[in-house]
Amino acid sequence: MSLATTMIALFLQIITCILFTTTASSPHGFTIDLIHHGSNASSSRVTSDTELGSPYANTVFDNVVYLMKLQIGTPPFEIEAILDTGSELVWTQCLPCPNCYDQNAPIFDPSKSSTFKEKRCDTNDHSCPYEIVYNDNSYTTGTLATETVTIHSTSGEPFVMPETIIGCSRNSSGFRPSFSGIVGLNWAPLSLVTQMGAEYPGFISYCFSGKGTSKINFGGNANIAGDGVVSTTMFVTTAKPGSYYLNLDAVSVGDNRIETLGTPFHALLGNILIDSGTTYTYLPESYCSLVKEAVEKVVTADRVVDISGDDMLCYHSDTIEIFPVITMHFSGGADLVLDKYNMYAESEGGGLFCLAIKCSNPTQEAAIFGNRAQHNFLVGYDSSSLLVSFKPTDCSKLWS
Ligand SMILES: *[C@@H]1O[C@H](CO)[C@@H](O)[C@H](O)[C@H]1NC(C)=O
Ligand SMILES: *[C@@H]1O[C@H](CO)[C@@H](O)[C@H](O)[C@H]1NC(C)=O
Repeated sequence: MSLATTMIALFLQIITCILFTTTASSPHGFTIDLIHHGSNASSSRVTSDTELGSPYANTVFDNVVYLMKLQIGTPPFEIEAILDTGSELVWTQCLPCPNCYDQNAPIFDPSKSSTFKEKRCDTNDHSCPYEIVYNDNSYTTGTLATETVTIHSTSGEPFVMPETIIGCSRNSSGFRPSFSGIVGLNWAPLSLVTQMGAEYPGFISYCFSGKGTSKINFGGNANIAGDGVVSTTMFVTTAKPGSYYLNLDAVSVGDNRIETLGTPFHALLGNILIDSGTTYTYLPESYCSLVKEAVEKVVTADRVVDISGDDMLCYHSDTIEIFPVITMHFSGGADLVLDKYNMYAESEGGGLFCLAIKCSNPTQEAAIFGNRAQHNFLVGYDSSSLLVSFKPTDCSKLWS
């Protein structure tokens, strides 16, 4: 998820910064299993060009997100929340909740936790309100609180974070019932990784697998090294400080390299957000259409019209082989040759493929490097050296 707008009491952020300027010791690390979660909630519906008289609907692919288990409160209450490098705050729905979205799992009841404390702010009722609107117009509003957060690592060691600032949401909308909130992982002050403190200085890495296990590493476990690693610079933007922006120099469709230089998309200081919480890759309309045209030039199969409103590029085909390889060229020579699976999504029943790139509209984040394109890369974020690194990896085999 990327942020459209966010409003959080600023002075709190200053307090958090002070809290975590404790002395650093050797980097500790741990790893967490992720839950791969798909749903048909916003999949594309397509209708065949050649059968306009009898349009049929077909599910192309799920909007996949990765969930992380967290325990909040005392005694610990388990939630499953979306892993999101595109936003800052860790939040869950709290009782009483007059305007919650439908949630399958029980909702957290702060009155049953001995460690829950509302934050106090300089407002009339001393509450600390927050409001976040995400790129897809989903939103959460509520108040900030401090609470104990416990994370169970794969080693069996619990990682306990007392007095973590979390959002307690009592009015939210636009989310699916199968998760209980969002774990913000950008590098702004209130994100989970920032609040882990100086022993975990902004190192995370994850490996997403479409089918097998997916994991996230923190601290010392997040190191990426060895053959095939490429790195690119992370940019600090003034509009959204704390967001992980990269610079995309070009996209190649087969051998056809399409430069961002000379298009409105080109920017010197970060033109694309890398986001674990968004499934598709988004490019701004003018540049996006150049990429789509390049794919259309190569693919000879029958076009299929996407009636979902997203105008995705879809074809009838029994095989993925007919589609060209797509390479994303990030600045500094970080060329990611993407597997066809990362860029072409097959329908449930087969026989139909769609390019996993959508064109953004002007009200949305212009460009997002989404989680599907990142499958089978070990992706590392190091906010102290301002680098994002990628290592081609079979994520389903990495830890088995
Ligand atoms: C998605 O749609 C397919 C086909 O309609 C169905 O079989 C499957 O159960 C759906 N999955 C979810 C998570 O709703
Ligand atoms: C819930 O939040 C939305 C977005 O901020 C706002 O428009 C709406 O009025 C709120 N609803 C209530 C009942 O507070």
